[in-house]
Formats: sequence, structure tokens, C-alpha cells
Amino acid sequence: MSTFEKLPRHVAIIMDGNGRWAKKHKLKVAMGHRQGTEALRSIIRESSDLGIEALSLYAFSTENWKREAQEVEALMGLILEFFASEIDELDEKNVCIRILGDKDGLPQRQRDVLYDAEERTGQNTGLKLNIAINYGGRAEIVRASQALAKKALAGEIKPEEIDEAMLARELYTKDLPDVDLLIRTSGEMRLSNFLLYQCAYAEFLFPEVLWPDFDLAAYHEALHAFGNRERRFGGR
Ligand code: IPE
Ligand code: IPE
Ligand code: MG
Repeated sequence: MSTFEKLPRHVAIIMDGNGRWAKKHKLKVAMGHRQGTEALRSIIRESSDLGIEALSLYAFSTENWKREAQEVEALMGLILEFFASEIDELDEKNVCIRILGDKDGLPQRQRDVLYDAEERTGQNTGLKLNIAINYGGRAEIVRASQALAKKALAGEIKPEEIDEAMLARELYTKDLPDVDLLIRTSGEMRLSNFLLYQCAYAEFLFPEVLWPDFDLAAYHEALHAFGNRERRFGGR
């Protein structure tokens, strides 16, 4: 076991590169996504074992509906498989699952499984595992703005009372610390609409490795790189 200089409280990961991994291995794209869930399992387990407070994983964006129906179906199928095979162990490990994104925009079966997972693990006090499904960062901020506007109209708050903390409390991540470390695999250097508000002062890492190949060594390397970063938050 490595010891770390300083662990992030909140790690966010954009799990990218499944398509390229499949291509590289001359497999169908669905197989890339399937292999990606193996990496997912081990990174969740390790985060829990290391005592990381929160882990947020980008699994399906509001823009991913643009993909071919067959690929979307494969991803939807993997969501069911993943929860069916992992929920017992995650619950045993005291992991608290939260879905970031619009569950109600998903097919019924996926919706039911995700609500069940949240319900079953909601009181757990271990790793806070956020899985972003049908998630968009801008949509999240719009949703928060609407919630605040409704409260203002109802006379519960005054518009001038709205501050950063109040807005943050309307986000899916309401009670979690800001993202400390954002990792995007596969070498792409963009946020693709992930946790826009929460990443304001995150440290970014863009390892070249494709998501299905992101193993514990790669994760540890990222955590060490984070530990060696100097964070200033605008100060001296
Ligand atoms: C990321 O892998 C997983 C999802 C978007 C669901 P991609 O499928 O985007 O992989 P690349 O970018 O095509 O390699
Ligand atoms: C971001 O990856 C979404 C997920 C990893 C779930 P994409 O592969 O969809 O992002 P773009 O299209 O390259 O920006
Ligand atoms: Mg991609």
C-alpha cells in the first residue's frame, strides 16, 4: 500500500476512452463499455479502502443520447448489470450511493434500480459514491436556479440573500465538498459539461490511458500527482 502526501477529499472522474479501447482491440464499442465497468469496480473499491470522502463518476451525459441507439441501449443495459452485481457489496462496504442527473429522463427499469440503490444505501456513512447518469452541468445549474426562484416567489428567501453557498445547496452535490481532483482519462482535455460549478478550484489531470486500462497503479499515480500540486485558491 502506498502512503499518500495528501489525499483529495473529493475525486471526480470522467471515464473516457471506452470506444477507442474497443477499437484498439477490434471489439464492438459495447465491449469497451463492459470492460470499462471492470475499471469502475476496482476504482470504487480502492477509493473506499483509502478512505476518500467522495467519488463522482461521469457515466452518461445529457449529450450521450446523440449516440447510436444500439450503443445507448448497451450502456443502459450495463447500468442494470452493474447495480445488480455490485449493490450488495457496496452496501456492505457502507458506501452511500447518489445519482447525479435526471433519473426521471431514463427508462423505467433504470429509474427504478437507481432510486432503489439510493434508498437502500442512503443512510450509509462510508464513501459517498456519486454516479452521474443523464447528467449535464449546465442543466444542474439551471435546475438550482429554478429551485431558488421558486423559493423567492414563495417568500421563503429574498433574491439578495442568494449567495454561492445557497446555490451550491441546490446542486446534486449539495452537502459535499468541492471537487479537489478531476481526472479525465484518454488524453482529452475538456470538461464535457461535468460538475461545472463544483470544479471551480479543482486540480486537473489528463492521463493518456484509456478508461478500461485505468488500473490501481494509474490511480495511485494520479493521487500522488495531486499530493504534489500546490493549491493557492487565489492567495499567495
Ligand atoms: C466514455 O467512453 C464512456 C461514455 C461516454 C459513456 P467513450 O465511448 O466516449 O470512448 P471514446 O471517447 O469514444 O474513446
Ligand atoms: C464525457 O465523455 C461523458 C462521459 C464520460 C460519460 P464524451 O466522450 O461523451 O465527451 P466528448 O463528446 O468527447 O466531449
Ligand atoms: Mg469519449
